[in-house]
Parts: sequence; C-alpha cells; structure tokens
Amino acid sequence: MLKVSHLQKSFLLGSRKNVVLKDVNLEIHAGEMVAIMGRSGSGKSTLLNILAGLDQADSGSYHFDNADVLAMNAAQAADFRKRNIGYIIQNSVLISSKNVFNNIALPLQYSKHSKAQIKEKVSFVLAALHISEVGFSSVEVLSGGEAQRVAIARSVIQEPKVIIADEPTGSLDEETEDDILRLFKMLNEQGKTIIIVTHNQKVADSCDRIFYMNNGNCI
Ligand SMILES: Nc1ncnc2c1ncn2[C@@H]1O[C@H](COP(=O)(O)OP(=O)(O)O)[C@@H](O)[C@H]1O
Ligand SMILES: [Mg+2]
Repeated sequence: MLKVSHLQKSFLLGSRKNVVLKDVNLEIHAGEMVAIMGRSGSGKSTLLNILAGLDQADSGSYHFDNADVLAMNAAQAADFRKRNIGYIIQNSVLISSKNVFNNIALPLQYSKHSKAQIKEKVSFVLAALHISEVGFSSVEVLSGGEAQRVAIARSVIQEPKVIIADEPTGSLDEETEDDILRLFKMLNEQGKTIIIVTHNQKVADSCDRIFYMNNGNCI
C-alpha cells in the first residue's frame, strides 16, 4: 500500500548539507500496524512528513496505492492527505475558541456530514479515549494528556485509511498511553493501516513490525 524506494532527504545547515535520509526503503501493507523507532534526530519525523505528503524528498520514490505521491503538486498533495491520511503530530494545536466536541467535529463539518452522524462519531471517539466528561469544555482547561487525546480524536474522526502518529504517547501517563494504544488497535482491527513513531517499547511490541531508523536508513 505504501512503498518507498531509495528515498533521500537533506537539509542545508548554512553551507553544509545535513543528509538525514540516505537510502530509505520501506514497504507497508494495507492493514498493518508498524512502529518506527530510532534515536532523536535520526530522521523519523522527516520520514513521516514525506509519508504524509507534507514534505518533498530530494530523490527516490514514494507510491501510495500506485499513486506517485512525490510527483504531486501542492494541491494534489493536499487532496491526497485529506482523502487518505490522519497525521498526529507532536504538540498539535487545538482551536482555542472551540470546545472539545467542536474541535473533533471540525473535519466532519468540512466534509459535510449530518449533525446526527457527527454526534454519533464524536461521541464514540470521546468515549473510546475516556474524555466524554470534558466533551463540552473549553480546550484551554485541558490537561496535557487530555489535549493530546483530543488531537488524536480529531485526526482519526474521518477514519482515514492510514493513521500516521509521531510519538503520540510521548509525555503521557500510562493510563492515557493505554487508551491511545487501545484506540489504535481497534482502528487497526477495522482495517486501518497504522504507522507509529515511538520510543516506547511496549507500544512498539504491540505492533506487527518494528523498523529502526539509523544512519539515514530504515530497516
Ligand atoms: N526543516 C528542517 N530544516 C533543517 N533541518 C531539519 C529540518 N527538519 C529536521 N531537520 C534536521 O534533520 C534531522 C532529523 O530530524 P527529525 O526528522 O526531526 O528527527 P527525529 O524525528 O528522528 O528526532 C535533525 O538533525 C534535524 O535537525
Ligand atoms: Mg521527531
């Protein structure tokens, strides 16, 4: 479903070239749940940005269901993301003028779901993440763990084919971590493909496969 070949990506540091991805080859099948591990600075977030269609590579190829993602222009890439990818980034920003429910409902409102459908879907994911009791609170009063769950709920509410998560349980307590892992497992059982960057061995061990980023490669 996702196939990456000979992917290269570097950043310029002044006049020096910092080669972050040297030769990344990766194949992830539909319905798999995989973990990507590796030291801080090894290029995990850089790789996820490319997989999500948010950043370009310098060379190599990336195909998603036979679509050539790196050949897409900005508008095509935006459409690709909207149709296929739920991206959970580190420190995602919620909209402070909207309550929890409406933050999560936003993608569904854009895609013109009915009020009844929105209520059903949002209520379900609020319950799955044990945040129903703050459903109508302002997002400004949430704890860090609650805010992260709301961001995750917003990313999965449209049931994207692929969920890409960058250290989703990074600084959370174990209970929150377990809720998030359970939600990912449930989505995976429904057929979603899940890619999680994590430092957490327990999270990685619950995946089908673990990739390691090292020296610009991913094995
Ligand atoms: N936008 C950018 N501009 C310049 N350097 C970057 C940029 N994004 C990442 N890097 C560099 O690329 C390397 C890998 O970063 P990153 O992908 O965030 O690693 P990880 O997620 O594994 O911690 C780091 O050396 C980082 O400084
Ligand atoms: Mg990172």
